[in-house]
Amino acid sequence: MDWGMKNRISKIIRPETGRAVMLAVDHGYFLGPTRDLEVLRKTISPLISYADSLMLTRGALRSSVDSQTTTPIVLRVSGGSSVIGESLANEGLITSMEDAIRLNAVAVAISIFVGTQYEKQNLLNMAELVNQGERVGVPVLAVTAVGKELGKRDQRFLSLSCRIAAELGARIVKTYYCDGFEKVASTCPVPCVIAGGPKLETELDAFEMTFNAIKKGAVGVDMGRNIWQNPKPVAMIKAIRAIVHENMKPQEALKLYESEKNLKKSAAKKK
Ligand code: R5P
Repeated sequence: MDWGMKNRISKIIRPETGRAVMLAVDHGYFLGPTRDLEVLRKTISPLISYADSLMLTRGALRSSVDSQTTTPIVLRVSGGSSVIGESLANEGLITSMEDAIRLNAVAVAISIFVGTQYEKQNLLNMAELVNQGERVGVPVLAVTAVGKELGKRDQRFLSLSCRIAAELGARIVKTYYCDGFEKVASTCPVPCVIAGGPKLETELDAFEMTFNAIKKGAVGVDMGRNIWQNPKPVAMIKAIRAIVHENMKPQEALKLYESEKNLKKSAAKKK
């Protein structure tokens, strides 16, 4: 692997721990102004310094993130469909590699909807993106998307999608946590991170999912809603960081979350 490719990957997967906390705020590219991501800058600003990298579209980046940021950028470069359209899977490439480099992205991200009628189009788009990325040292992160059919998040489907993504050249794969996740991670020859998916009922649920994913072979998370749809998103990302980078147990992470939450409250009271 060439220096540039290695260097970019090291901005996502921290060399100190071999783990990654990616903050995903790219949802608007197909969902529009989804809850708690209505005003991008407002959601991103308090969280960005706690993320190892930030995943978003070029429009969100240019409009809502200061160019002085030191947080590495993973650019979502697939899209072209919406939640109210005919199929979420009907995606194409929406950003050139040239623009990704212009934006100083450390990786480009593309969804693949395996098993849909658009599978071939998605996979060929990904392969072409890998060709472009390898030429200039930009890693491709493949998102093993499930569209509206969240029920498809089982081990067999996710193992299949992750393995195909890696075989086609993705340097990192993003998938979902599931029963039997160890099989998904162990049969994928490149590092896997998990998405959080829709907001879970409790903080502990999100901490347990993160902890178990790491224990079973994920290198980290690329998490969105379970962080920024939480009423205390900063406390939430700090606790997730502690699990990912310090192997903190879920109950300990909950204590950390509670203390961070209350810390803010008591500081506000003192004022
Ligand atoms: C899905 O493809 C989106 O691109 C999100 O980046 C991804 O789902 C992660 O966010 P969340 O943790 O909210 O699922």
